[in-house]
Amino acid sequence: MTENTPAPSHDTEQRPTLVVDFGAQYAQLIARRVREAGVYSEIVPHTVTAEEIAARNPVAVILSGGPSSVYADEAPGMDRAIFDLGIPMLGICYGFQVMAKALGGEVASTDAREYGATQATVKGDGGTLLQGQPETQSVWMSHGDQVVRAPEGFDVLASTSLTPVAAFADEERRLYGVQWHPEVKHSEYGQLVIEGFLHRGAGLAADWNSESVIVEQIARIREQVGDARVISALSGGVDSAVSTALVHRAIGDQLTAVFVDHGLLRKGEREQVERDYVASTGVRLITVDAADTFLHHLAGVTDPEQKRKIIGREFIRTFEKVQRELVEESKADGRPIKFLVQGTLYPDVVESGGGAGTANIKSHHNVGGLPDDLDFELIEPLRALFKDEVRAVGRELGIPEPIVARQPFPGPGLGIRIIGEVTRERLEILREADAIAREELSNAGQDDHIWQCPVVLLADVRSVGVQGDGRTYGHPIVLRPVSSEDAMTADWSRLPYDVLARISNRITNEVRDINRVVLDVTSKPPATIEWE
Ligand code: XMP
Repeated sequence: MTENTPAPSHDTEQRPTLVVDFGAQYAQLIARRVREAGVYSEIVPHTVTAEEIAARNPVAVILSGGPSSVYADEAPGMDRAIFDLGIPMLGICYGFQVMAKALGGEVASTDAREYGATQATVKGDGGTLLQGQPETQSVWMSHGDQVVRAPEGFDVLASTSLTPVAAFADEERRLYGVQWHPEVKHSEYGQLVIEGFLHRGAGLAADWNSESVIVEQIARIREQVGDARVISALSGGVDSAVSTALVHRAIGDQLTAVFVDHGLLRKGEREQVERDYVASTGVRLITVDAADTFLHHLAGVTDPEQKRKIIGREFIRTFEKVQRELVEESKADGRPIKFLVQGTLYPDVVESGGGAGTANIKSHHNVGGLPDDLDFELIEPLRALFKDEVRAVGRELGIPEPIVARQPFPGPGLGIRIIGEVTRERLEILREADAIAREELSNAGQDDHIWQCPVVLLADVRSVGVQGDGRTYGHPIVLRPVSSEDAMTADWSRLPYDVLARISNRITNEVRDINRVVLDVTSKPPATIEWE
């Protein structure tokens, strides 16, 4: 058992590469690309001071792109003293211009705007940054201003037909910059630019990966928990499954996981958690069968927000009841429950403006909205990770693929995918239709192309159909396949017609009361992903 293995000695503070965020959407993408290069990264706001940066002891600093001109009145600035810290730095797009201007180069607003794919020409051997890259390559540009003169001590590494200084370097001070966006896939050799900076420029090894995350987190969790007890709410989703498994790896049966079956789950989900998840992780699990209670309280309710409130409230009640029982049990042996596991991810931390420290319980988008006055300290082992990294950690921990690869599913479950009152019968209908859609999408290899595909039952709508010799008067099912990066915006997925046809045929043939299948072709905005 892992509990018996000694905790490895470790630096609790991992030295990060810091990405300074100038306010565009690129900082998270840059942070991810850095991690893909095997180097740990974190995002800091551009208002960070040189002292704060120094206190983090970073191994490298990257200045992100931004929306503005460095000369605009409201242009986001940066503490100039950061350039004097002797830390290897890479400036990207706006960050490249900030670096140029701060160090005595010249940035000008010319008519030479470049947007989109642009040909860049690498000069000489490309220096440390662009070494080994083709002389001409396609890069992704998005700028109005440009660097017209590099600061003293800098060599120009690349240019385009409109931008004479498209990349530069001061090898001695280990300062680098590119006008284009190496973090976007449209820049052909973008990842190599980032790797060139990290591995050669800053001399960093590619040693950050799922395995190192697990080792580090196990040590941290053991240190935090000691011999106290911990509980965790499993939802069947990726984040709670991985955070729970990770904590279990660290402290074994000091952890109890609670799984509330609210009756609004999809087909096979409870079995997946109770059987496959437990078998692969060894987690001690308590399942609470609360479907009757939830359905009782949902009877007659049609308003979406009302449904959410009821489901959230009942979830808390159910969880607190189990928790009280466990607390009593734990008092008996003198090892109190002190901690609650929470599957908070890095984007939540960044978006809530949070850096280090402060716990932030997700309200809307967590299991069902755990109360924030629970008398527990939080354990958040995924706080530094992006979703795809969480999946990689889950795979490393041996969690079954259907759970690790699972698409986002709302806490209130099928309750907000039945338009109208939620009843047991309607849930059964929707569950069957949803299972067919999921199966066909997976069989057609669509799982990697779509973000999620809500299947919605319009329970209060009926339309006329004909089946066999008879006229039917059944309900429509809506398919809502969407593509998205983060669920903040989304587009409807262009699924192949034959896949749609198969799903439609099977649902109308196999699911009673359904005589029509329709496709939602709306982006977000203006529509949301879910119908309620
Ligand atoms: P919308 O419908 O707002 O959904 O475009 C964005 C993402 O959030 C999920 N979602 C929820 N998740 N509780 C949750 O845990 C909720 O009440 C909830 N409502 C929406 C939705 O599935 C999508 O991934």
